[in-house]
Amino acid sequence: MLTRAIRALAGDTTPAPPTVRHPKPAARRPVLTAVPTHRAPPPAPSAAELPDPPAPVATVVRGAPAGPGLVDHGVGTAAPSQDRGAPEPIARGVAVAVVDTDPLVRTVLKDHVTSLGIDAVAHDSLASLALSPAAREPLVVVVGPSEPPPAVVEHLQEFLEAGPDRGAVVLLFDMSAETVRSAFRAGVDDVVAVNADDAELVGAIGRAVSRVHTGLEEARPPAPVVAPPVATPAGRVITMFGAKGGTGKSVVAVNLGVALARQGATPVVLVDANLQFGDVALMLQLRPEHTIAEAVVAGDRLDGDLLGELLLRHKPSGLLVLAAPPDPVAGDRVERADLGKVLDVLRERCAYVIVDTSPRMEEATLAALQAADDILMVTNLDMTSLKDARLGMQTLGVLGIATSRVKLVINQSSSTNALSQADAERAVHAKVHTVLPNDPAVAESANRGVPAMFSAPTSRFALTVAELARSLRPRPAAATARGPAAREGASLR
Ligand SMILES: Nc1ncnc2c1ncn2[C@@H]1O[C@H](COP(=O)(O)OP(=O)(O)O)[C@@H](O)[C@H]1O
Ligand SMILES: [Mg+2]
Repeated sequence: MLTRAIRALAGDTTPAPPTVRHPKPAARRPVLTAVPTHRAPPPAPSAAELPDPPAPVATVVRGAPAGPGLVDHGVGTAAPSQDRGAPEPIARGVAVAVVDTDPLVRTVLKDHVTSLGIDAVAHDSLASLALSPAAREPLVVVVGPSEPPPAVVEHLQEFLEAGPDRGAVVLLFDMSAETVRSAFRAGVDDVVAVNADDAELVGAIGRAVSRVHTGLEEARPPAPVVAPPVATPAGRVITMFGAKGGTGKSVVAVNLGVALARQGATPVVLVDANLQFGDVALMLQLRPEHTIAEAVVAGDRLDGDLLGELLLRHKPSGLLVLAAPPDPVAGDRVERADLGKVLDVLRERCAYVIVDTSPRMEEATLAALQAADDILMVTNLDMTSLKDARLGMQTLGVLGIATSRVKLVINQSSSTNALSQADAERAVHAKVHTVLPNDPAVAESANRGVPAMFSAPTSRFALTVAELARSLRPRPAAATARGPAAREGASLR
């Protein structure tokens, strides 16, 4: 554990604060056995003494490459680790710099980061880093815990405002909600507790690096169109997305489906791609006589006629549903390619195809994201939801799916939320599109199998879902080719 060494160096004897952990548990690695030869740190050097601080005194074992000195003006890049268990290099094309005012802490942190397979330069302050050659590269900074908040947060904000090609991970002793919130507000990519394990630190740096990559991609002007555009399919595919369960993806999908089906452009089909634990049919009181599993078995015979026979009809609204398989084993058989084909067939024949997904990044979720015209990222205003939403955005970037398709939907908003909409925007790097209130009537409607659009039609929740539906205009071809007549049956001919 890196931070044991840092805590000792900083003379910290208090119990380790809880870490704001990433909910996806990363594999734990053996602790760092860095043994500083001096227990008490010398006073921090003044700015005038830098960038030539005294020679490193920390001894880092576990095959760490020897550090070149406390301040290394070369640009840090990926370095192969000598540790067989170390992760793959992650910092391709992005420099990594370690910053801490305390020379010993800085050395331990730099050596530690290097030992994890990430080559890094080290500086005593963000100001000195900003003047160095590294600052001219896309850059992720790993800030140590010696400078306490709020000063470190203030300096980070200034540093990050220089451009989208800068990212930051900050190590903190103080993991209070207020400090963590202020760090995210400042634009920090991740906050890691000083007592976190190695995998967490590597994960945080990796995510910051990929966010910087994504930021650079998006800042790039679009490539000129050289070929004529391919014919666009008729329907608009709307995929629900959220790496955390229970944020309200299915509730929003069901109510949005009802709202769209009642707004005119039809057919509207809701596909339950939460293949193992889908509950859309339950939320609409539909008996899943047919499911998506039958569409898969059809293989090449799959066409609009066959799919039409497999759809369930929600009579009160006209919404059509392709239900999830009845049990997790059947769900396992629905492969990604099959879902892609199902979505292709549906989008050719429908005004809207809404796809509810599982919180897991499985093959079906991937296919639904790739097919999507709109990705509704549903999140709640709490720390773990926002961390997952941020990770979800980064994952889209890594997958090459344009994050411009994302519409951020805050669900279960209330005056007691720990975080604000502005916090969500900063954390996720996207504008809030829709805010749905927390409403007990919604929870009750989900349990009764009557969508809130019917059971509480004048509630703010229902009115806001209707507004969300209006904001998702049908493609022109779909709006004219389909009319109210299509509401009468489940046929997709
Ligand atoms: N706006 C809301 N107000 C109150 N409760 C809600 C709201 N949205 C969702 N819920 C509750 O949260 C539960 C989980 O929602 P669900 O849509 O199943 O989550 P997900 O599909 O994202 O995992 C629902 O059963 C419902 O009780
Ligand atoms: Mg769900």
